[in-house]
Amino acid sequence: MTIPIRNLLGTELPIIQAPMAGVQGSALAIAVCDAGGLGSLPCAMLSMAAVRDEVAAIRAATGRPFNINFFCHVPPAPDAQREAAWRAALAPWYAEAGLDPAAIPAGPGRKPFDADAAALVEAVRPAVVSFHFGLPAAPLLARVKAAGARVLASATTIDEARWLEAHGVDGVIAQGLEAGGHRGHFLADDLTRQPGLFALLPQIVRAVGVPVIAAGGIADARGVAAALALGAAAVQVGTAYLLCPEATTSKVHRAALASDAARHTALTNLFTGRPARAIVNRLMRELGTMNAVAPAFPLAVAAIAPLRTAAEARGSGDFSPLWCGQNASGCSARPAGELTRALAGV
Ligand SMILES: Cc1cc2nc3c(=O)[nH]c(=O)nc-3n(C[C@H](O)[C@H](O)[C@H](O)COP(=O)(O)O)c2cc1C
Repeated sequence: MTIPIRNLLGTELPIIQAPMAGVQGSALAIAVCDAGGLGSLPCAMLSMAAVRDEVAAIRAATGRPFNINFFCHVPPAPDAQREAAWRAALAPWYAEAGLDPAAIPAGPGRKPFDADAAALVEAVRPAVVSFHFGLPAAPLLARVKAAGARVLASATTIDEARWLEAHGVDGVIAQGLEAGGHRGHFLADDLTRQPGLFALLPQIVRAVGVPVIAAGGIADARGVAAALALGAAAVQVGTAYLLCPEATTSKVHRAALASDAARHTALTNLFTGRPARAIVNRLMRELGTMNAVAPAFPLAVAAIAPLRTAAEARGSGDFSPLWCGQNASGCSARPAGELTRALAGV
């Protein structure tokens, strides 16, 4: 089991800590790398200067391989009419919180991989680079590969896995429907086409020749063993790391993950404009989990932000994206290194 994974990722254990934008930085990645897994640094919400600092922190702390992760969405053109309709839909909650919708700035909430990011990869030369929402344009991807990085990307369907292999990835991350956070789809946005992990993983393993990494609902060593038995070369685990002391998960998010509320998650586009799995909270209940009025990713973020800030100041997660997969049973406050080794059964 350790030999193929060494070839692909350079790690001792077949465990990738999922990159999780907004809830972790270098500290979580370092702890996982030190334990023998592949730590990941999510870059979608960081400036390039911040990515450089975080990578420097990882390099200063560990000589082990690590992964840096980027989003590959096509930024939408701003649409004033849609933005106005979105703010109108949120008006009752603005009024309740005493917020003036006219004072809320619009703006993108996530950056896609671009030429600056490619230059950074060339300078930093990480062992692994992973992508969510497809792949960058061919010339940019060629630069990542020429910098010596192994390239991984998420697939939510068999078609996406085949597409990724045809476009040169070194490994496919099979993201089952139970996974926490954003769906990684990029060929079609029909969620009914996206299977759960037990259905998706063996079919992707049969469909592609590159190693497959299983993601979604894996919370303990038995889940890891099951994924490996179905043909995965490794697993990518997100939700189980959210309560680790090295994560930067907010207080309200931690409280929700540790409560019975975490047993009820749903896919929602309200917080960013793209479907993502989160613990059902007040905004999702009152506005509907999927709402066509929400602007395209990532433009929905800006209008929600002040509602979230106001609620969190009162200790409430009513308007926060409480990202979580369908299996939060692996969440505990133990150190990430301990969790990594427990997942690997060592
Ligand atoms: C809080 C959170 C944030 C996430 N952010 C990212 C991200 O920035 N990039 C990415 O490729 N995947 C992201 N994901 C998805 C993970 O890569 C992975 O598919 C998922 O965590 C696996 O399912 P699990 O959460 O049930 O373990 C995120 C997941 C969570 C829970």
